[in-house]
Amino acid sequence: MAPGSEAELRKRNTPKTSTADLKAEGKEKQPKAKANGDSRAKESGLSATPFIVLVLLGAVAVLVYQNPAVVTEPLFEFLGFDTDVSPVEPTRTGFVADVEKRDAVKAAFRHAWLAYERDAMGDDEYHPISHKGTNLTEAGGIGYTVIDSIDTMLIMGLQDEYERARQWVATKLSFDQDANFNTFETTIRVLGGLLSAYALTNDSMYIEKAVDLADRIMPAFDTPARLPTSMINLAKRQGVRAEDNKGLVSTAEISTLQLEFRYLAYLTDNDDYWDAVEKVMRTIRSSSLTTGLASIFMNPEDGRFVLSAIRLGSRGDSYYEYLLKQYLQTNLTEHVYQEMYNGAMDGVHGHLIKKGQFTGLTYTSELIPERNPRGEIQWRLTPKQDHLVCFFGGSLMLGAATSGATTQPVSIPPRPSELTPRGKRDWQTGEALIETCMQTHDTATGLAPEIVHFRIPSDGVVGSGVPQDWYIKGAQPGAPAPYDARYILRPETVESLFLAYRLTGDDKYRRYGWKIFEAIERHCRIESGGYASIINVDQVPAVHEDKMETFLMSETLKYLYLLFEDDSVLPLSKYVFNTEAHPLPIISTTRKANF
Ligand SMILES: *[C@@H]1O[C@H](CO)[C@@H](O)[C@H](O)[C@H]1NC(C)=O
Ligand SMILES: *[C@@H]1O[C@H](CO)[C@@H](O)[C@H](O)[C@H]1NC(C)=O
Ligand SMILES: *[C@@H]1O[C@H](CO)[C@@H](O)[C@H](O)[C@H]1NC(C)=O
Repeated sequence: MAPGSEAELRKRNTPKTSTADLKAEGKEKQPKAKANGDSRAKESGLSATPFIVLVLLGAVAVLVYQNPAVVTEPLFEFLGFDTDVSPVEPTRTGFVADVEKRDAVKAAFRHAWLAYERDAMGDDEYHPISHKGTNLTEAGGIGYTVIDSIDTMLIMGLQDEYERARQWVATKLSFDQDANFNTFETTIRVLGGLLSAYALTNDSMYIEKAVDLADRIMPAFDTPARLPTSMINLAKRQGVRAEDNKGLVSTAEISTLQLEFRYLAYLTDNDDYWDAVEKVMRTIRSSSLTTGLASIFMNPEDGRFVLSAIRLGSRGDSYYEYLLKQYLQTNLTEHVYQEMYNGAMDGVHGHLIKKGQFTGLTYTSELIPERNPRGEIQWRLTPKQDHLVCFFGGSLMLGAATSGATTQPVSIPPRPSELTPRGKRDWQTGEALIETCMQTHDTATGLAPEIVHFRIPSDGVVGSGVPQDWYIKGAQPGAPAPYDARYILRPETVESLFLAYRLTGDDKYRRYGWKIFEAIERHCRIESGGYASIINVDQVPAVHEDKMETFLMSETLKYLYLLFEDDSVLPLSKYVFNTEAHPLPIISTTRKANF
């Protein structure tokens, strides 16, 4: 998902952890596997034969320098990160659950939910260190955390927790709040959560709430170009222009409402919802840049793109994701979205995909428009990749297996003959981007930073020690950690791992996911309940920030759970996940894109 300015600002402003909290955190138990691995390494090495250890370390350093992947995998196994020796060979008929790991993720979800329920039930957001909840606005909450978490409880079979959450929605929830809410965030988290709760239960209460909310959001589309305003007053039913961006709208925000409103139209037979979001797509298509790429801002007055950055990160990301997913949602029938998706992927490959100069990592860049002294516009390529972009590896593989396939369904993994040339290209890039995202977890905590930069010849970064293709900008030993260095419990890498595992059956993706889960447990878990963001992925013990983002329970833990779950649960042939990980059924409809 792509948080807009609102969400980003809120994240920056969250209060810092007190030292008392930090001390309590230091006492946390380490997960077993890692602790054992460490002590094993100590006993066998340092006490007995220091010289051999030194020689070995030297050899390892040389190997890592030449090809990190060769060494890091067996090394992680040796250290006990990967205790999983899965007996399951990939087959076409399905993968069996890894019950122990799946249930460890479920226990983590309960650790998060029960703390929230104890301290802040019904509040929009949760602060696990101060044990407090807050609402997005003064007016009152809109069930942000509760509704975002409901389908995860259903998927995990947490019946008691589910009953209490449903009861809250049925009796306490009100959308009649006189304040401005972000149109996009409210749609993907709250409307999306209600719709997937319905899809998994057939409980009509969720439809009533979804219709009530959608009808309050619809006035956002009342702009000259019919592009929705970024904010909406839910009580007054009025669209509100965001002041921070001169009333412009974010491309990703207006193009990431479609799965939700289309599914609601399908359920209620009310075409107004479908028409509103389809018009947005038509407008984007008619003003599209010739490269297939989209700038991150549009003008709701004239429906044109505004000269602004082009990127797969914030304000751009889910535009590309929903092109594919709209095509998937109507079961590969609306070819206009396939065409737009293909054009976009060609543009991405032509302009944004790059390779690192030292270890050859595949990464994505951003294009920033600048005026030169003569007043002409030039696009500056910036080797900056948000953690948000890590959704893209799995998304490319999903696109290759569907839009880029010559047959349906493809094998697991697809045979080369089943993919078009475009499909092959996208599949390979997808696999490579996932490896890159895993490399960015090679930090002191094993968690990836919010933003990484990749080395280019002109960057002036002086390498210290082993040259790496990526670095955290502004990170200096001993200096306060830059904003880029944080990990805020984001889901994008594990989202890609889940998709890649379902599409390949390759157990390496489960190993990767387990490593990330263990790192979250070790560094983000708050003993008294809940999980917190950390301000520097390269600092141990981790320093917490008093915030548990709602996407931990709706996305990160859900994708991790599904990674270890039997693949008959929410098969990709029957469900498409919205950008907040809410699964919506693939629908059969005679309706086709009207442009
Ligand atoms: C958040 O809003 C809800 C619903 O309006 C209200 O019951 C609750 O007290 C509010 N919480 C806080 C912390 O203000
Ligand atoms: C919901 O209803 C549909 C259509 O009748 C049915 O196919 C599906 O199995 C039901 N789902 C649940 C969870 O009851
Ligand atoms: C999608 O279409 C295919 C081919 O027509 C069909 O076999 C499949 O059941 C459809 N899937 C859904 C979820 O409707």
